[in-house]
Amino acid sequence: MKLLPALQLLFIPGVSFLAQAQTGLAPKKFLPLPLGQVRPRGWLSDQLVVQTNGLAGHEHEFYHYVSQTDWTGGDSLYSNLEEAGSYWFNAMVPNSVLVNETVIHQKTLEFLDYVLDHQDSTGWIGPEVNTNKPRFLWGRYPFFFGAIQLTEVHPELTDRVVTALHKFVPLANKMLHNNGEGVDAWAQTRWEDFVLTLQWLHDFHPNGKEDLLVDTMKQLKFTGVPWEKVFSEELFPKTAVEHTPNPFNLPLTWHGVNIAEGLKALPTTFRFTHNQTDIDTASKGWDMLFQYHGRPSGIYAADEYLAGLEAVRGGSYLYQVIGDPKFADRVERIAYNALPATLTGDMWSRQYLQQQNQIASKDINPFPNDGSYSNVFGLEPNYPCCTVNFPQGWPKFISNAFLKTPDQKSLVHLYLGPFSTSSTLSSDNHVTVNVDTLYPFSDTLHTTITATKAFTYFVRIPSWVSGGTIAINGGKANAVNPSNGLQAVSVSPGTTTFVLNLPAKITIENRPHNSIAIHRGPFNFAFDIPRNQKVLRRDSREPRAVDLEFDASGAWQFAIDPATLHFETTSPSSLPSPIFDSGKSPLSMTVTACPIDWDIAGNTFAAPPPSNPACTGRNTTLTLTPLGVSNPCVLVQWHM
Ligand SMILES: *[C@@H]1O[C@H](CO)[C@@H](O)[C@H](O)[C@H]1NC(C)=O
Ligand SMILES: *[C@@H]1O[C@H](CO)[C@@H](O)[C@H](O)[C@H]1NC(C)=O
Ligand SMILES: *[C@@H]1O[C@H](CO)[C@@H](O)[C@H](O)[C@H]1NC(C)=O
Repeated sequence: MKLLPALQLLFIPGVSFLAQAQTGLAPKKFLPLPLGQVRPRGWLSDQLVVQTNGLAGHEHEFYHYVSQTDWTGGDSLYSNLEEAGSYWFNAMVPNSVLVNETVIHQKTLEFLDYVLDHQDSTGWIGPEVNTNKPRFLWGRYPFFFGAIQLTEVHPELTDRVVTALHKFVPLANKMLHNNGEGVDAWAQTRWEDFVLTLQWLHDFHPNGKEDLLVDTMKQLKFTGVPWEKVFSEELFPKTAVEHTPNPFNLPLTWHGVNIAEGLKALPTTFRFTHNQTDIDTASKGWDMLFQYHGRPSGIYAADEYLAGLEAVRGGSYLYQVIGDPKFADRVERIAYNALPATLTGDMWSRQYLQQQNQIASKDINPFPNDGSYSNVFGLEPNYPCCTVNFPQGWPKFISNAFLKTPDQKSLVHLYLGPFSTSSTLSSDNHVTVNVDTLYPFSDTLHTTITATKAFTYFVRIPSWVSGGTIAINGGKANAVNPSNGLQAVSVSPGTTTFVLNLPAKITIENRPHNSIAIHRGPFNFAFDIPRNQKVLRRDSREPRAVDLEFDASGAWQFAIDPATLHFETTSPSSLPSPIFDSGKSPLSMTVTACPIDWDIAGNTFAAPPPSNPACTGRNTTLTLTPLGVSNPCVLVQWHM
């Protein structure tokens, strides 16, 4: 999504905050841990190493939007603070920290230095300094996220970052009061990103500027999209939007990434309005989004969007403010399905648009608003944005996997997988946690906790778990009994261990045209269509950056009998690297299937499935594997 030139501004009248009696910010239900305190282990650590050895960790060496070491150069990181540099920084700060990659980490520090050193006397931050370029606010917001994350690993940077932000805020406040100066269409839709930064300042470094900070939050909302209306029952679009007039006069309100950002807007709003309606609307809007636009991979569909990345972050934030486990369940499904499915196993190529019934990945055009190259796996299909933005997905998922309760007495293990964390809880309680597991490729998680004092530890039990057990300190396995999605474990001083076994039933999700999607645990299972691969283009600067086309080389037109689904695991002791690649999953399902007639549309994608097909040949057995492993060709199965 390259920034558009200034669009006509739209002001939404009449949201009055004056009636609010409460002041200050409402507390969150759960607090994130600083970057670096939650680390991936086992296969998840390897996944981040794969990402670092792939496009994410090499793009700064050759990709012109982020590659120049001469920061002031035409295409440098700095000059692309309007988008590319900011996105890259926000992603590569946590990526470099979580894999201990010193060269990239050093580059993020230099970038921070350069940007802060060039803040001008008015407080403006960015490449517009000393130029006549118009100043739009949004491009800075992901940069702020990266800067905040850097202060978490380098506390000595805190003063500089906080001082720079406190210099920027009065300028931004003045611009917002001045008829929404600097608010283009992107700032209108993504105002909540800046609110998050302002709330970080308010929570940790208010410096007596609470009123200015809260006023700036209100002005951002006032000059931005009224998300409470976008997510209202009355105005929320219940079908694909290309033929629906947009009541907000701003098509970008229904832009895929903006919707994901908008999901965070209402919980951020709640913190300064204290209005429970904002929370209720966010929760209901979340349900409507997935009810009307959801996909079996966990994500929702949009033709102007990349799978999962922003939603991962948004969903984590919703959980922190609202505490409803449904947000965490979905984030996990997105991270373990939609995200890996849209990248090649080696993470050198990514799609812009992922299709559900993806029988090929090539230059095709079923998309009303995006280019025909959107479906290709490559360096920068359709837009460069996601090349620099996708690397934030895994690191943010990892960073948000553990939380603290606001009283700092408890740790919460939210996203299941192999992690370690060490943190100091209240009363100087030093706690370390190691979780050893192949989850989601296994149902069993071994957790070892050491603590200097007794405390209550919580671990999320996903809603799909059926017959889950917990065995503490080598004792017998008892049924889990979570409350609001969290299992409490009493931890004594010293070492505590427990083993969770979290089996799940195979579930069938009904989809349009009598079709079905198949799930077990967090995974959506799909048929890995046999295929040919063709290199469409190889980047002249970096031969590993390839654009790939995939075409089915065997039949994909099948109907299945869900009554015959049978789940299997090879129960390995470790996973191959990269795990998210064809043929690598230790989990699979077999199912009885028969060939049917199913049309192709356009060049080349699957038409909607026939509702009542007849078998055109003999029964066969198909093997289904998790969607992220089956990439890039996937298929929703359906009834005979
Ligand atoms: C990074 O360093 C941490 C702390 O020293 C260590 O636990 C972790 O295994 C390292 N990660 C990688 C990917 O090398
Ligand atoms: C809370 O928000 C709703 C919806 O935006 C609004 O109608 C209501 O007046 C607000 N309540 C208060 C006390 O401001
Ligand atoms: C084919 O599979 C279907 C569904 O399981 C079953 O009802 C039918 O009997 C099978 N046909 C043959 C010839 O085995």
